[in-house]
Amino acid sequence: MSLLLEIPLFLLIALYSYLEAFIKLFIPVKRKSVTGEIVLITGAGHGLGRAMAYEFAKHRSRLVLWDINKVKEEIGDVSILMNNAGVIAPTDLLSTEDCEIQKMFEVNILAHYWTSKAFLPTMMRNNRGHVVTVASAGGHIVAPFLVTYCSTKFAAVGFHKALTQELITLKKNGVQTSCICPMFINSGFVKNPSSRLMPPLEPEEVAKKVMEGILANKRMIFVPPLLKVSVMLDRFLPARAVAALWRLNELKFDAVVGYKDKEK
Ligand SMILES: NC(=O)c1ccc[n+]([C@@H]2O[C@H](COP(=O)([O-])OP(=O)(O)OC[C@H]3O[C@@H](n4cnc5c(N)ncnc54)[C@H](O)[C@@H]3O)[C@@H](O)[C@H]2O)c1
Repeated sequence: MSLLLEIPLFLLIALYSYLEAFIKLFIPVKRKSVTGEIVLITGAGHGLGRAMAYEFAKHRSRLVLWDINKVKEEIGDVSILMNNAGVIAPTDLLSTEDCEIQKMFEVNILAHYWTSKAFLPTMMRNNRGHVVTVASAGGHIVAPFLVTYCSTKFAAVGFHKALTQELITLKKNGVQTSCICPMFINSGFVKNPSSRLMPPLEPEEVAKKVMEGILANKRMIFVPPLLKVSVMLDRFLPARAVAALWRLNELKFDAVVGYKDKEK
């Protein structure tokens, strides 16, 4: 088709999508059942992972702790994979130890590759399953003293988006994907977090919102939803306005700042 025809067609599709999204605001969302599904959650011992395990348990899903070989032999094929385990080291870049940088990349993003390579083949063969990527607000907007953490979470968002596109291209539409992007959670992961516009949430509240999103097969889940507006403003506002918004929000957390300017 020629570009002259394709561009109006694209505009029609965009308009239709906005209208559809608007109408859907007033229609109850159809939720899938996860009863009996085998759900593997990494990092389920604490915080969000633990709260998610309780949420899935309420839906009578079969829960599995992380260990690939065991899992495959003893339980069977995982149909919901939740890559939740994460680590953080809030420090300025120059004070971040090399081993901390490596660990954040290994746990926060590389592990997603290894688990997906282990469990996606069966999901794709059956054209049925769900890959849940726990990223962060830090996968869309950045903060000082979280250079490495934000880099890993941007990578996690990219992994989710590219995998989603790949599954669509391969016509594996039965394999769903969701990306979870929360603001601060009171789990002890980050010490003393605060934000004027989006105060920290309890793991259980976040888990409830995440569960609603997973059951509705939502692709991108922001918690709280206001975070989506913040992400859009960050993308479209001029730099000075973004800086003003940053000051207004007064985002704070404990960080180790070891860098000293030796030229002073
Ligand atoms: N807490 C927050 O403010 C916040 C905000 C946005 C996103 N997140 C993300 O949510 C996820 C969960 O965070 P949380 O707040 O529940 O943290 P948490 O520290 O309370 O829980 C994380 C769990 O993962 C486990 N874990 C760490 N490395 C692991 C590994 N290699 N293998 C298996 N388990 C491992 C830990 O032992 C812990 O039980 C993380 O991916 C984090 O980046 C957290």
